[in-house]
Amino acid sequence: MFAGTQHPDLEHFILHISDTHFVGGADLLHGKVDSDANLKRLFRDFAETKARPEAIVFTGDLADTGDADAYRRLRALVEPAAEAIGARVIWVMGNHDIRTPFRRHLLDSDAGEQSVDLVHEINGLRIIALDSTVPGHHHGVITGAQLSWLGDVLATPAPHGTLIALHHPPVPGSGLFDLNDQEALAGVLRDTDVRAILGGHLHFNTFGTFGDTGIPVSVASATCYSLDNAAPAGIMRGRDGAQGFNLVHVFGDRVMHSAVPIGEFSSVYEVTEEQMRLLATDLAATGAPEPPALPEPAAISPSAQGSRLRLGS
Ligand SMILES: [Fe+2]
Ligand SMILES: [Fe+2]
Repeated sequence: MFAGTQHPDLEHFILHISDTHFVGGADLLHGKVDSDANLKRLFRDFAETKARPEAIVFTGDLADTGDADAYRRLRALVEPAAEAIGARVIWVMGNHDIRTPFRRHLLDSDAGEQSVDLVHEINGLRIIALDSTVPGHHHGVITGAQLSWLGDVLATPAPHGTLIALHHPPVPGSGLFDLNDQEALAGVLRDTDVRAILGGHLHFNTFGTFGDTGIPVSVASATCYSLDNAAPAGIMRGRDGAQGFNLVHVFGDRVMHSAVPIGEFSSVYEVTEEQMRLLATDLAATGAPEPPALPEPAAISPSAQGSRLRLGS
C-alpha cells in the first residue's frame, strides 16, 4: 500500500494525456489513424477503473492542424468524460495547435494570438499551463515576457507545490524541434516550488531531469500514434500502436509518473482486492517474513493502491 512511514501521504492524482492530434472532418490522421477512437477507448477503459483523478492535463498537439471542428469534437468527448470522474480539464498548446481556434473552442475566449499561459489551482496543487509554441514553427520557446510572468507567479509558493505543463519538454533532443533557450527557463524554475514538468511532443514515453535544476521531466506518449524507438537505423517511424497516457501521483515533494498503454491485452493473472486483503491479514497474523508467491506488479502498482485502479487486470 501507499500508506507507510517511508513517504508522505498521497496528496494528488492527475491524468497526463498528450498529442491527441484530432483532425478536421472525417479524415484519418495520416490516412491511417482514428485519433477520436483512440481517445474514446482511453476514457472508456479508464472509467472501468473507477479511479477519480482531480485533473486531466493535455500537453498539446490537441488538433493536428488547428481545425475548429477538431477542437469541438475533442471538447465534446473530453468534458463529459472528465465530469463523470470529477476531474478538471487543463488544456496546453502544442506546435500543431493554433492559438485563436484553440482559445475559442476549448477556452471560450477571444483573446486571440497571444500565448496561452494559465495558472490552475487544484486543491492546493498549482498547475501552470505554459505555451511553448512559436506560431508557424515546430520548435518551441518561452519568451522573455512569459519568463517574467512565470517568475512573478512562482515568487509565491503554492500550498502543495507546482507542476509545469508544457508541450516541448526541456530534455535533450535532436535540436530540430526542441525547446530553445532552455537555460533561460531553468533560471526561472531553479529553487522554486516546481516539483515536476509534464511534457508531450515526442510521441513516446520518456523521463529526464531539467539541467542542473534537478526538476524531473516526464513526457507522456501520444494517444494518436507513437514513434518507434526501435526502428531501423536512419528511419523515423510513426506506428499505430503503443499509444498511452500517464498517471501522476503526488506525495508531498515526491511525484510518481506511471505510463499506461492504451488497448486490450490478454491477462496473465488477476488478483482481487479481497485476495489482497486476505494476504495482508495472513501476513499480519503469521508475521511471515516472506510473502507468498503472488505476482509482483499488482503489489506495487500505484494505481491499484492509491486510486483503486487495477492495471494489467
Ligand atoms: Fe504531436
Ligand atoms: Fe508537437
